[in-house]
Amino acid sequence: MLTFESISKTQEFSLSLRRKGIKIALVPTMGFLHEGHMSLVKMARMHADFVMLSIFVNPTQFGPNEDFSKYPRDFEGDSELCLKHGVDLIFHPDADEMYPDLSSTWVEETILSKPLCGKSRPTHFRGVCTVVVKLFNATLPDIAIFGEKDYQQAAVIKRMVRDLNFPVKILSVPIVREHDGLAMSSRNKYLSPDERQNALAICKSLDEARKMAMEGELSSSLLAETVKLRISQAGGNIDYIEIVNSETLLPEESVSKNSLIAVAAYFGGTRLIDNCFLIHKNIEY
Ligand code: PAJ
Repeated sequence: MLTFESISKTQEFSLSLRRKGIKIALVPTMGFLHEGHMSLVKMARMHADFVMLSIFVNPTQFGPNEDFSKYPRDFEGDSELCLKHGVDLIFHPDADEMYPDLSSTWVEETILSKPLCGKSRPTHFRGVCTVVVKLFNATLPDIAIFGEKDYQQAAVIKRMVRDLNFPVKILSVPIVREHDGLAMSSRNKYLSPDERQNALAICKSLDEARKMAMEGELSSSLLAETVKLRISQAGGNIDYIEIVNSETLLPEESVSKNSLIAVAAYFGGTRLIDNCFLIHKNIEY
């Protein structure tokens, strides 16, 4: 397994692969890898000849009072996991390499990035889009893989790729959960044992809402209220609970087969997100 830190070296290497007709997949990450990330690697392996995984904690997607400086990092552990799962190359640039002095260009998607996480994190998706474009330009992938845990992020990236004609195919992978249902996340490490237990209210209440919808309860406000109550009762501080159309991300008053329920809530100081389709798709524990 190779590890590159330089953008130009990575570009040259990718170009040489592409000239040989080797198909490249990119899995963009911020590291502190877990089985959720590895399911993206598995998908990448299935669709490409050469799998690159980037590890870069991207400062521009964190707001001023967010957890950039304390975001967990473990390059050695990450490398071991990557090796075990057959990653071919880790792209691991530092902040100076990615954002040289006087960087002044942004990539911004202006519709899908506004609701949900965009309300409380107004500059987040601009940072995500900008870094993802930079990662595409460094690694020149044929395909790139994103997780549905960050459903809005995947939607924004798909829209950006379409709008700007990137020759990159975007694939997404279902949420990977812990044995008890909590969506895997690098941020779960911040949770105390009590918070970890209480945070199960998120996936349990989403599952409850899904079951209610499957049994015919189609009122979005009633379903959202149920989830809100369960999460608040467990001590969670809610950022949003919304039932939206999975393509437009706009609120839906009544549940349809395209409805997604999305949640962001704090347990202690840790902001967790989760989502599920209300009809047809199951949460798999
Ligand atoms: P990060 O949070 O490290 O996540 C990297 C990728 O792994 C994302 O596409 C995310 O949706 C996916 N992922 C994380 N946990 C998952 C889970 N439990 N199940 C399925 N997929 C999961 O998302 C980012 O980094 C950054 O915003 C990035 C795209 C790298 C840009 O900086």
